[in-house]
Amino acid sequence: MADSKVLLEVRKLSVEFSGFQALTDVNMKIYEGELRVIIGPNGAGKTTFMDLVTGKTTPTAGRIYFDGADITKKSASEIAKKYKIGRKFQGPNVFDNMTVKENVEIATEGYEGLFRSIFFRKTDAFKERVNQILREIELYDYRHFMACDLSHGQRQWLEIGMVFAQNPKLIILDEPTAGMTAEETFKTGEMIKKLKGEHTIIVVEHDMDFVRQVAEFVTVFNYGRLLAEGPLEEVQKNPEVIAVYLKED
Ligand SMILES: Nc1ncnc2c1ncn2[C@@H]1O[C@H](COP(=O)(O)OP(=O)(O)OP(=O)(O)O)[C@@H](O)[C@H]1O
Ligand SMILES: [Mg+2]
Repeated sequence: MADSKVLLEVRKLSVEFSGFQALTDVNMKIYEGELRVIIGPNGAGKTTFMDLVTGKTTPTAGRIYFDGADITKKSASEIAKKYKIGRKFQGPNVFDNMTVKENVEIATEGYEGLFRSIFFRKTDAFKERVNQILREIELYDYRHFMACDLSHGQRQWLEIGMVFAQNPKLIILDEPTAGMTAEETFKTGEMIKKLKGEHTIIVVEHDMDFVRQVAEFVTVFNYGRLLAEGPLEEVQKNPEVIAVYLKED
């Protein structure tokens, strides 16, 4: 990874919520094209870290650099649209009264927006991109279903597809397998493995089977600090990581 480009870098990133230090002096680099997995106990600051990177929360100290720009004080909408950081929140968030295909279409890069969509002519490239996403998330055969008729797992896949369809430079997935069956979790891992490479992805997960399935490089948070970082095989042997997180596994 040393020869690839640093896409995201945070330096001494900290945030305090009315006296509570949720994140303290986090230094981290994410390289273009990598799939980084973030693990750590409940309340360790993983979601808070995502909130800072995506501009949902403003840090009290430290800086965030993305793709050569300082985005520390940028708004969430600017970070999403101009800098192209896409995020899937914990839990599905799709348009229930639209079909699976329509959900993917409105998310796909090049889509003209609801008002202009009346006149928007779908090019072959656009249609192919939508179909490709539908296949990647294993929902092609369900494309004419209403989103509300999908299973919980399928809705999560739809939302993952909608994030990828926007073609962001960085994709952040917060617990994408939450509430899924073991089989759905495995399928999600395979999907993310297929989607990586052309994308830079940060995924937060608790499910250690999933982590072992997809992870190469892992960052461990604990009490708002970066506890350990390295290849999964190394991190799994780290006594501190075992003590705070992996002991019950
Ligand atoms: N807006 C806020 N105001 C006050 N405290 C907050 C706020 N957001 C997060 N916290 C606190 O910061 C700590 C870190 O929370 P965070 O949600 O980042 O943990 P997490 O690592 O994502 O945990 P989980 O694995 O349970 O999702 C928690 O103690 C939480 O209560
Ligand atoms: Mg969280």
